[in-house]
Amino acid sequence: MTKKFYVTTPIYYPNDVPHIGHAYTTIIADALARWHRLKKESVRFLTGTDEHGKKIENIANKKGKKPKEFVDTLVLEFKSAWKKLNIKYDRFIRTTDKDHEKKVQEILQKIYDKGDIYLGEYEGYYCTECEAYYTEKDLEDGCCPIHKTKIEKLKEPSYFFRLSKYKDKLLKLYTENPEIILPEFRRNEVINRVKEGLQDLSISRTNFSWGIPLPFDKKHVAYVWFDALINYISGAEDFWPADIHLIGKDILWFHTVIWHSILLSVGLELPKTIFAHGWWTFNKEKISKSRGRVINVDELISIAGVDSVRYFLFRETPFGEDGDFSEKSLIARHNNELANKLGNLVSRVSGLIEKNGVEKCENNLIKKLKLREIEKLIENYKFDKALNEIFAFIDICNEYVQSKKIWETKDKKALFELKESILKIAELLSPFIPESAEKIKRQFSVKKIKKSKILFKKI
Ligand code: MSP
Repeated sequence: MTKKFYVTTPIYYPNDVPHIGHAYTTIIADALARWHRLKKESVRFLTGTDEHGKKIENIANKKGKKPKEFVDTLVLEFKSAWKKLNIKYDRFIRTTDKDHEKKVQEILQKIYDKGDIYLGEYEGYYCTECEAYYTEKDLEDGCCPIHKTKIEKLKEPSYFFRLSKYKDKLLKLYTENPEIILPEFRRNEVINRVKEGLQDLSISRTNFSWGIPLPFDKKHVAYVWFDALINYISGAEDFWPADIHLIGKDILWFHTVIWHSILLSVGLELPKTIFAHGWWTFNKEKISKSRGRVINVDELISIAGVDSVRYFLFRETPFGEDGDFSEKSLIARHNNELANKLGNLVSRVSGLIEKNGVEKCENNLIKKLKLREIEKLIENYKFDKALNEIFAFIDICNEYVQSKKIWETKDKKALFELKESILKIAELLSPFIPESAEKIKRQFSVKKIKKSKILFKKI
């Protein structure tokens, strides 16, 4: 039976055009999906948009539009950004899709029938920007700790999900299955917070209507996070459980404690891994619409092209840690690594082959490629180190041309070794820089190889 691989990104709030933070997770998911497709696995890659809730309703109101009409235009922005970044998902799910709405109601009904949902009254703080509840002690001078904006105090009837009941089960799960939350330091954060105790979660709202009505009480709409998390099931087809949910560190609590408890309550299998990555800053400053700078996808691409930005995001920072983005460092990697190392190798070798041809022989050069190690690094989400190893081999190939003085010796056997090595390099790089890898592959797979056009123009 073919192995299956199911990867997801968060579904993004379509309240503005996508920026580097959205692009990052989606590019990582794309590379993982491509990697598993290379391994001939049956792959499902799900991404999409999180369209309900007060936050979206408010923005649509401000713009004088109906919420659905408003998100429709932004969904096009997301889809077009993913196309530009060469992202090949299998489904773009929207929480306004009919099949999703039906699934949410089905799951709510199941949990209700089981007795894990009860009616109560919510009294406390809610940040609409975060779409999250806070307690008095979370606030800073009465403001949201993230957005620093005044926070609304809510008092309304609400249905509650019996989250508190899952505390011991969750702790057992997290200690027995360490791969369920990665990286490890994030898992420890979650475990410590769960140990402090869990409170039941308010999962319905009555003071606005842009959401999915509860099947057992139509006056209430589902809390936007409850609605959103279920996308991973509605969009799964037969692929559930997910192999990996890729998310940012800020939404780890929702994807672990809340999501796992919902799944335990419905009796569904849990995703194998939740991986929380770090946050990008821009020239060391926080990326944020209210304070600081936002860098959107078009700007990102305009600096050095799609593959360079993809490469940069993988290579610059270990996956899981925070990173800093700057034009300067992106251009440095583009010039020094993509142009000088990879581009140079491809152009020199193709030129030499055009002049001299190749002669089949045993490939001793490729034995220097640490293939197993690279595969292991990718499978353990150490993309920066994997790229480092691939580029170490590119260095070896460039040195080989140099030390063998091929331009003098016209050594066709060495050129054969180089050609085969370059094809392997292209395959290994294809999840990360798909467009350039495809160009290299096409160029070196033909009978009469010709000197290539420049792959990466220096900036
Ligand atoms: N709609 C929710 C997710 C629901 S998933 C069931 C949401 N949407 S979001 O659009 O606000 O954010 C999506 C992702 O972008 C989060 O994973 C967040 O971590 C990520 N990022 C936002 N800014 C970021 C950076 N500056 N750097 C890296 N990722 C960041 O949350």
